[in-house]
Amino acid sequence: MARVPRLDLQNVTDPSDERLADYVSLTDVALRSRHEPEKGLYIAESSTVLGRALRAGHRPRSVLLAPRWVPDLERMVAEVWPDETASDEPAVPVYVADEPVLEAITGFHVHRGALAAMHRPALPALADVLAGARRVAVLEDVVDHTNVGAAFRSAAALGVDAVLVTPRCADPLYRRSVRVSMGTVFQVPWTRVDPWPGGVEALRGAGFVTAALALSDEAITLDELVADPPERLALVLGAEGHGLKATTVAACDLVVRIPMAGGVDSLNVAAAAAVAFWATRA
Ligand SMILES: C[S@@+](CC[C@H](N)C(=O)[O-])C[C@H]1O[C@@H](n2cnc3c(N)ncnc32)[C@H](O)[C@@H]1O
Repeated sequence: MARVPRLDLQNVTDPSDERLADYVSLTDVALRSRHEPEKGLYIAESSTVLGRALRAGHRPRSVLLAPRWVPDLERMVAEVWPDETASDEPAVPVYVADEPVLEAITGFHVHRGALAAMHRPALPALADVLAGARRVAVLEDVVDHTNVGAAFRSAAALGVDAVLVTPRCADPLYRRSVRVSMGTVFQVPWTRVDPWPGGVEALRGAGFVTAALALSDEAITLDELVADPPERLALVLGAEGHGLKATTVAACDLVVRIPMAGGVDSLNVAAAAAVAFWATRA
């Protein structure tokens, strides 16, 4: 029988309780700047997302949830840390609060009643993320967390092996990105590629053909790319407003366009990513 890991359940009724500092009126940006780089935290919201984070090996610093989610947490933790009672790890504080108290603490409606302050894992080296990958997506300066989360979800679902985010791209571990991604930001290997677009050279050196997804008239169509697919392919997607930088387009091996109809000039970046991921699946 699996031994129940050590969770230290503590009831909280006062929203100003000092133990809840990680959750009080904090934006995720504030969390990052307060604790990065060594002690960075991110917030996992909902029991589903927390479960995925735990299965990916991430460790909670603490958990804050409504009473009805406690059995769910105990089951998930027993599943991912069956030998926890034998380890020297300190017990994870689990703060249990009624839903109105939760909202008073955080300042927002807590999706499915559970939040966890998670330790940010160190970002892997670019070479490690690329090793063995055949399909890679690069998100250049995509600033909308919803788009980042949606692109990761598509990457996971459509067989993209890794995602690279440029230095100015929104944080995949921002609360909203994590939630929209359905926790797939924990599943798909990813890292920051810095410098950019200098990193195109690193991709090329690792054997990738780099394809800039852009609306250029000189572009080949996605169908033409798919007709003769490279063994290792990096699909480079641009920001919501201006698209890819001209220097990035110039640095890439190919420029690829998804043909548009209906008088529409472009797709949302996450939609373009899903189309391209599906068409070029290995
Ligand atoms: C909303 S679009 C940006 C549109 C921008 N005005 C432009 O000219 O690129 C965001 C990103 O989605 C991708 N994208 C959207 N529609 C596309 C299409 N029809 N063909 C290729 N890429 C597309 C591109 O990577 C683009 O940078």
